[in-house]
Amino acid sequence: MTSTHARTAVLPGSFDPITFGHLDMIRRAARVFDRLVVAVLVNPSKTPLSGLDDRLAMVREATADVANVEVMAFDGLLVELAERCGATAVVRGLRSGADFDYEWPMARMNHALSPGLDTVYLAATGEWAHVSSSLVREIHRLGGAIDAFVPSAVRRRLAQAADTH
Ligand code: PNS
Repeated sequence: MTSTHARTAVLPGSFDPITFGHLDMIRRAARVFDRLVVAVLVNPSKTPLSGLDDRLAMVREATADVANVEVMAFDGLLVELAERCGATAVVRGLRSGADFDYEWPMARMNHALSPGLDTVYLAATGEWAHVSSSLVREIHRLGGAIDAFVPSAVRRRLAQAADTH
């Protein structure tokens, strides 16, 4: 069925780096919405593992086979990005109650700032529920193998970055 009211959602995050958990969310959200904008935060944490260009490239490569996904950088308020994209929903993943505690105030605040914008949560797939970018960063910085948790685009880029240092 072709809809004249294509639904756009934004899936924001730091993606430092993108993990299989993120990828699972992106693929599932892309089935729920007509157009999914994956929004990569410009300045994520004080000590990011990868710069913006690398994070964008890794997200683009990992999602290249998902036709209705667009990847862009964003800075400033999420609600403003959502408005610029014509999005009516923000998609986030929930792995646990701790995630809910972090997410709930943001969803309420974003809705207060932009009443037309709702947050939709997808329950994390069990296989990836223990995977977080922060743990992946720590394992990588300490020399551990992260291959089981991140797409091949991440493995390649991080290996290249290590070679150039
Ligand atoms: O992957 P993360 O780091 O958990 O993503 C957090 C993110 C990007 C969703 C959040 O920091 C965010 O929305 N930042 C944009 C700034 C903003 O709009 N802040 C007000 C939120 S209520």
